Amino acid sequence: MTVIEFNSVSKTYQGKVVLEDFTLVVEAGERVVILGPSGCGKTTVLRLLAGFIAPDSGSVSIAGQLVAAEGKIIQPPERRNLGMVFQDMALWPHLTVEGNLEFGLKAQHVVKSERQRRITGMLALVQMDAYRRARPPELSGGQQQRIALARALILQPRVLLMDEALSSLDEELNQHLRKELLLLHGQLGFTLIYVTHDHVEAHDIGTQIVCMRKGRIERIGTASGVMPRGADTLGADAAK
Ligand SMILES: Nc1ncnc2c1ncn2[C@@H]1O[C@H](COP(=O)(O)OP(=O)(O)OP(=O)(O)O)[C@@H](O)[C@H]1O
Ligand SMILES: [Mg+2]
Repeated sequence: MTVIEFNSVSKTYQGKVVLEDFTLVVEAGERVVILGPSGCGKTTVLRLLAGFIAPDSGSVSIAGQLVAAEGKIIQPPERRNLGMVFQDMALWPHLTVEGNLEFGLKAQHVVKSERQRRITGMLALVQMDAYRRARPPELSGGQQQRIALARALILQPRVLLMDEALSSLDEELNQHLRKELLLLHGQLGFTLIYVTHDHVEAHDIGTQIVCMRKGRIERIGTASGVMPRGADTLGADAAK
């Protein structure tokens, strides 16, 4: 089943084209990595998908429903059922870990017993059971990232968007959380859209790797490194 469809999307900021003719189809359960250098338009793709911005031309569909087209947002972010973990999206420091996880569930009017059940289950999944009553400033960077991931996943999103969410962590922790992410993906079966500029991360995570440069898709490859024919001029990047 197709979950996400970008159809020839373009986006311009102050006369500067930052995304051009972006077309991408994502099937349910896939792990798509958007890879490319700084400023190539990766976050713009996620913002379009999340519904924070509208495409100037072209359209975006989620689960077969048109959510944005030709300068208009048709379905607002809160109705798209997407989870988000962005680098700059901090946890609420005044709330406990439990409070952070409970916040979105309350907003969705999930009853208390179900909230508690889901929090317990999710903390076990990210191996943070012992920190239920801790506050974010008492946690390490990696622990905070795990809670940020848990906060997104507890709402059972059909799609999880991650924007350089592990980039600030040291290599060992990054690798560890990558492994956890793959395990969680296997257990929960969401569709993952993962933005990074790191080739190693990209090949570790992606079932599909979308290489971008200057607002355009240069190539779409699979994790096994099999590139479509005629893409050889673009092969250097993926080999790095
Ligand atoms: N709100 C905005 N107003 C004007 N220009 C913007 C805006 N948002 C993004 N841009 C421009 O669009 C281009 C793409 O930005 P985007 O944030 O998508 O890049 P990115 O690939 O995520 O980069 P990075 O790896 O540094 O996060 C950049 O040139 C950026 O300056
Ligand atoms: Mg970005």
